[in-house]
Amino acid sequence: MSLKDCHNFSDFRKLAKKKLPSPIFHYIDGAADDEITYKRNTTAFDAVDLVPNVLKGVENIDLSTNIFGKKIDLPLYCAPTALQRLFHYDGERAVGKAAQKFNTFFGVSALSTVSVEEISSLIDTPKMFQFYFHKDRGLNDAVMERAKAAKFDVMALTVDTITGGNRERDLRTGFTSPPKLTLSSLFSFAMKPMWGINYLTKGKFELPHLQDYVSEGTSTAVSIGNYFSNMLDQSMNWKDAEKLCSQWGGHFALKGVMSVEDAKRAVDIGCSGIMVSNHGGRQLDGSRSPFDQLAEIVDAVGDKIDVICEGGIQRGTHVLKALSIGAKACSGGRLYLYALAAAGQEGVERALNLYRAEIERGMKLMGCTKISDLNRDNLRFRSK
Ligand code: LAC
Repeated sequence: MSLKDCHNFSDFRKLAKKKLPSPIFHYIDGAADDEITYKRNTTAFDAVDLVPNVLKGVENIDLSTNIFGKKIDLPLYCAPTALQRLFHYDGERAVGKAAQKFNTFFGVSALSTVSVEEISSLIDTPKMFQFYFHKDRGLNDAVMERAKAAKFDVMALTVDTITGGNRERDLRTGFTSPPKLTLSSLFSFAMKPMWGINYLTKGKFELPHLQDYVSEGTSTAVSIGNYFSNMLDQSMNWKDAEKLCSQWGGHFALKGVMSVEDAKRAVDIGCSGIMVSNHGGRQLDGSRSPFDQLAEIVDAVGDKIDVICEGGIQRGTHVLKALSIGAKACSGGRLYLYALAAAGQEGVERALNLYRAEIERGMKLMGCTKISDLNRDNLRFRSK
């Protein structure tokens, strides 16, 4: 199997599985507890049917949308995700350059393996930074300043990782950052020698935003669950979020809002957007899916801030359904991470190209020529 055999999400996943040592593959692929929410994030889209219109003259399709004051050419973007150099040696460089080609947002995590300064020097298309509120206030201030100096367009505060999710696959495989060889993982790393050679020869693994402040994650191996539980500040509250919002002074979003109450408070503290998200099912298993929760949130705040539907997207038609409900755009992690693992920048470009083609084809078949043509009249909810 090679990149040219990848025609959808599940093909990229298969190729990624072939390329990655199993602890690393399962870190991407896994979620919390019984992984019910992870699966539900995608199956939720099946409870709604699209109702197309015909004879609309659809030879020219405009997929552009505006979020956080920026026009992007695709209503789907690369959500920030951590540790990308573990998935491919080019890591965030590959994803950023691919996102630039499609003129869509690229999200960079505080746990990224390439610095905000380098990303800014590489790409001039819209960028968001994913902030984690650490106990270490010096780290928080420094990270915020660096993202500001690097001219990031949006600061997204992660609000759904107040403690680590129970990722049982990581417990079984012993996945840590940085990866460490244990007796039980030795075999899985030995099975993927190319990954090992690239990891050891293509530059040192670093977490450039964190390593001057904390050793965990860079020189001390920890699981991501433990990192969240031990390094992040569990006292974080609305006052802190409001302060961070004014400290940033630009477009600010909360990533991981699921309730109408919280969406309204996000508006009150000055946010310009929210990501309706459950962290890809990696935190609270049993949580509702972003898509199921979207309508009530859009009804409450959709005319005041940008509502992004994040998680579970595996098809262009999933994007069409979320936009029809009123999301301004969609985002996802695994939808490009498997492609990154499969073939670096070329892989991510192929994945984005497929999603763009699916969205465009779906728009034509729906009789819609621009994003604002999508609305709830085009949907029917199946009665359960
Ligand atoms: C995760 C974090 C790092 O593993 O976003 O879910």
